[in-house]
Amino acid sequence: MKIAIPKERRPGEKRVAATPETVKKLVALGAEVVVEAGAGLLAAIQDDDYKTAGASLAADPASTLGSADVVFKVQRPMTAAEGHDELALMRRGTMLVAMLAPYADRQGVDAYAAAGIDAFAMEFMPRISRAQSMDVLSSQANLAGYRAVIDAAAEFGRAFPMMMTAAGTVAPARVMIMGVGVAGLQAIATARRLGAIVSATDVRSATREQVQSLGGTFVFVDDEEARQAETSGGYAKEMSAAYKQKQAELIATTLKKQDIAITTALIPGRPAPVLITEEMVKTMRPGSVIVDLAVEQGGNCPLSRPGEVVEAYGVKIVGHLNVPSRIAVDAAALYSKNLLNFITPLIDKGTKQLAIDWDDEIVKGVALTRGGAVVHPALKAS
Ligand code: NAI
Repeated sequence: MKIAIPKERRPGEKRVAATPETVKKLVALGAEVVVEAGAGLLAAIQDDDYKTAGASLAADPASTLGSADVVFKVQRPMTAAEGHDELALMRRGTMLVAMLAPYADRQGVDAYAAAGIDAFAMEFMPRISRAQSMDVLSSQANLAGYRAVIDAAAEFGRAFPMMMTAAGTVAPARVMIMGVGVAGLQAIATARRLGAIVSATDVRSATREQVQSLGGTFVFVDDEEARQAETSGGYAKEMSAAYKQKQAELIATTLKKQDIAITTALIPGRPAPVLITEEMVKTMRPGSVIVDLAVEQGGNCPLSRPGEVVEAYGVKIVGHLNVPSRIAVDAAALYSKNLLNFITPLIDKGTKQLAIDWDDEIVKGVALTRGGAVVHPALKAS
């Protein structure tokens, strides 16, 4: 069984889907691993490190993908229209494992089916304890939450911690985190470690204790709807107009007193909710910073621009794309481990070949296509 690791070609992508550590483990499972030359360079991994771990190197995408049974990627394959037809290089029957953005790229899902590729979207990993070590959204969001605070600190013209010096006292920064999922929790912890005074808000009431245990102040519209805001999968629901109105009023009063806002609020399969309106930005102090981690899903602030740092009403609004890739070495290492943990139970220990149990909850959760057809329940009907 041959597992291929191509170089990621999408602009701004520095991560790679295997590290020497995971290659070694894949080889130990009986796989032959082929890595495209240069695939790890932007994540500080040299070709020789892959070789030492037991991989062979391929010179180009065609020779990397052409004979693969399994392809590990970070992002979805590029298309002919985007300049490289990566899908065309894969054989029918190849298993493709990556972050395939199936809601955003519904056409891609049909293309995998048409090409006879069995595609698995790692973002669809069910949130069950058995799958925690395979959860790419968690591993990447955790690093993104950390990096968002570092990016905010770099744009902020003041310090985070309180400093009492002979020349005067530096006040601590006030940081508000909106959306207390995986990224938000790490952002709270990071901002606290830097010495900021932190508050945080979410629509899921379960986050109250998590915020408080990290030393943050919880800001929350506590009503019946919020008590029902969490889906069985642990995600947030879209809230009603009445709830949004109450939440906006609460955020507006809190935000005026903040120096930094980091927004991470997402609703799976839907545009990100607007949490910081233009009117609210106007009320923030000049020199404040907003980092909008939801910018790729439309943004939690309508003024944020994908891939840009813009200034509005004296406030810097940071809209970096692909934030995990800004901390590529760790992001690649954790992502690669997620993929290793996913594939390990799918390899038969005796035959060393793929033996996929298509009825398994994890497989059913992530499988988009099989044998030329779209099989995921969330995508089949549309
Ligand atoms: P996410 O990335 O989908 O959303 C980020 C946060 O935004 C969430 O906390 C969500 O409640 C919040 N949000 C959504 N709409 C909002 C609004 N209008 N206003 C304020 N906040 C809003 O969520 P993420 O980070 O993927 O985590 C969701 C949950 O799943 C968490 O409880 C997390 O602990 C849990 N989880 C469970 C895992 C497991 O059991 N295997 C693994 C990872 C996370």
